[in-house]
Amino acid sequence: MFEVGLNNNLKMPMVGFGVFQIPDKKECSVSVYQAIKAGYRLIDTAASYGNEDAVGAGVNKAIVEGICVRQDLFITSKLWVQDMESYESAKKAIDASIEKSGLEYLDLYLLHQAMGDYFAAWRALEDAYLEGKLKAIGVSNFYPNILTNFCETVKIKPMVNQVELHPYFTQELALKTMKDYDVIPEAWAPLGGGRYNPFEDDMLLGIAAKYQKSVSQILLRWNIQRGVVVIPKSTHLERIIENIDIFDFDLNEDEMSQISSLDQGYSGSRSKHFDPEFVKMCLGKKIHD
Ligand SMILES: NC(=O)c1ccc[n+]([C@@H]2O[C@H](COP(=O)([O-])OP(=O)(O)OC[C@H]3O[C@@H](n4cnc5c(N)ncnc54)[C@H](OP(=O)(O)O)[C@@H]3O)[C@@H](O)[C@H]2O)c1
Repeated sequence: MFEVGLNNNLKMPMVGFGVFQIPDKKECSVSVYQAIKAGYRLIDTAASYGNEDAVGAGVNKAIVEGICVRQDLFITSKLWVQDMESYESAKKAIDASIEKSGLEYLDLYLLHQAMGDYFAAWRALEDAYLEGKLKAIGVSNFYPNILTNFCETVKIKPMVNQVELHPYFTQELALKTMKDYDVIPEAWAPLGGGRYNPFEDDMLLGIAAKYQKSVSQILLRWNIQRGVVVIPKSTHLERIIENIDIFDFDLNEDEMSQISSLDQGYSGSRSKHFDPEFVKMCLGKKIHD
């Protein structure tokens, strides 16, 4: 499996398994276990997904069964907005994520949104990183202007920025900004997140047929070849296996451009980061008891 080097020299797998919208704990832990068995080493969860404990259960089952060792895994979680009120609240939430996962440390921890007092929260992430509780730290949904200001201001620069990246929203400026600051891009919704219906697009079907691959594999491969880490989600075993089987072919330059030409230039997601109402909704959203 391909890996990418972070700016702190840690290696991160280029394909991971996302667990957004798998609220059922049993289903989540089984999916995580199946994903590790299928070869995934990166798992992506978040405090707001409510399944950090189920991820830990799936991970621990795989370790106990000898499928992998903890050091081979790259477990990611994220700090939600309500915990970005202050340094103290962020510090507590980091410890809570680690405790819920049942793991001694997390490999990557992200500020989920550029909301709340995210500079104070970042200082808590920096300290947890220096203490070894978090092996790498990063951000998510930091658009180019925000990321630039952030990288120019903080002491420890983020290692990763997880943003929406797929052929319908290619975000070239976001990628350029991340490159300028040595921040690795990670794609959420790499398959389009259940929107756009790429699976019936004639051009994608044609490329998939040429390589005897599925449309899903073409979409993921396209991002990998742009240097972007992908974290597709599925609760179906055959798709979990399919989505990591993308290292035995190369898209040519012409195919890469054809796929990029699907770009609409805007996000079709329900997460409207530029909409004040979305920000207010996130700030008011209660996740913890
Ligand atoms: N940082 C953020 O703000 C943020 C936001 C959104 C997501 N994320 C992370 O990114 C991960 C991925 O994003 P996502 O879950 O929104 O979208 P996604 O991975 O692009 O798409 C998931 C959808 O595609 C389906 N699917 C999966 N594999 C398939 C295949 N081989 N063929 C056809 N359909 C397939 C899944 O259905 P089945 O499950 O039924 O197979 C599901 O409906 C999340 O799980 C989460 O970890 C982060």
